[in-house]
Parts: sequence; structure tokens; C-alpha cells
Amino acid sequence: MERTLILFKPDAIQRGLVGEILGVFEKKGLKIVGMKMLRMTPDLSKRHYAHLVDKPFYADLEKFMTSQPIIAMVLEGVEVVSVVRDIVGATNARKAAPGTIRARFSNSLSRNVIHASDSVETAKKEISNFFSDEELFEYDFALKPFFYAGDEE
Ligand code: PPS
Repeated sequence: MERTLILFKPDAIQRGLVGEILGVFEKKGLKIVGMKMLRMTPDLSKRHYAHLVDKPFYADLEKFMTSQPIIAMVLEGVEVVSVVRDIVGATNARKAAPGTIRARFSNSLSRNVIHASDSVETAKKEISNFFSDEELFEYDFALKPFFYAGDEE
């Protein structure tokens, strides 16, 4: 099944939003298959945001993301990459659709509480930047029959 990477950014942690945001994903029926707190290094930031390193805002982005520990999480579910992107909302929280996580919890382009992978290919790369195979778990999701019909997997 598809997997995606979520990062709880420093603003989410400082503002005490981790539990509430995590609850949104849990109630949606998405399965947590990996989770850890870590300090992003400048190297890891450059790998994760490789497509942005030449942008004028990159220095601030790296400074922010490495300023304190973040929480990385891998979620699994049917079409989870696009489902999560829709729940998270536009990068610029001021333009995010009402009800999305960024619309609800942020009003900023850079302090936008979480990161979510933008495609299945990107998700694979991003997950491998943050998690080894041993840190990702396969286990029965007991309530799966109540979240999905058999033909949806
Ligand atoms: S882009 O430029 O739209 O393709 O970028 P995207 O991949 O959607 O995400 C940009 C990430 O950089 C963070 N960031 C900013 N983006 C744009 N402008 C400014 N000034 C800026 N500062 C920081 C933004 O929050 C996105 O972070 P992630 O972690 O990907 O959500």
C-alpha cells in the first residue's frame, strides 16, 4: 500500500499542535508505520529540500528546520499521498482551503506546521532520507475492515 512522509515542523512542536494534527490522520484511518523525533542536520535539510536549495528563502528554511528537533512520521493508506496533501492544504496557509490543517493552524508560507510528500515517487525518496527499513513497521491494522472495503486495497 502507498506510504507518505509527514514532518511536524518546529512551529507545530512549539505550539503544542502535534497531538491534534496526528489525531486528524488517525481518525481518517491512516496507519502510522514509522515515527521518531530527530534533529534535522544541514545535510539532511539539503537532501530533503534538494529542489529548493537555490531559492532565496532556502537559508531561512534550513535555519528554521534545524533549529530544534522535529518529528518525522510515515503514514500508510489507500492513495495516501494525495489524500494527505488534500488534508494538509496549500503550502501557503493563507491560500489553503478551509478545513485543511494549514488553513486551521497556520497563516504562513514557511511556518506552515507540517510537511507532506507531494508525489508517490517523492514520498519514496523522502521516506528513505529519514527512515531505515528496520524503522518502518508492518503490522495488522485491526480496524481495517471498518475503514476500507475489500476491493479498495
Ligand atoms: S515550491 O516553491 O512551491 O515548489 O515549493 P514546495 O515544494 O511546494 O515547498 C516549499 C517549501 O519551502 C518552504 N518555504 C517557502 N516556500 C516558498 N516561499 C518561501 N518564502 C518559503 N519559506 C519556506 C515551504 O514551507 C515548503 O516547505 P514544506 O516543508 O515542503 O512544506
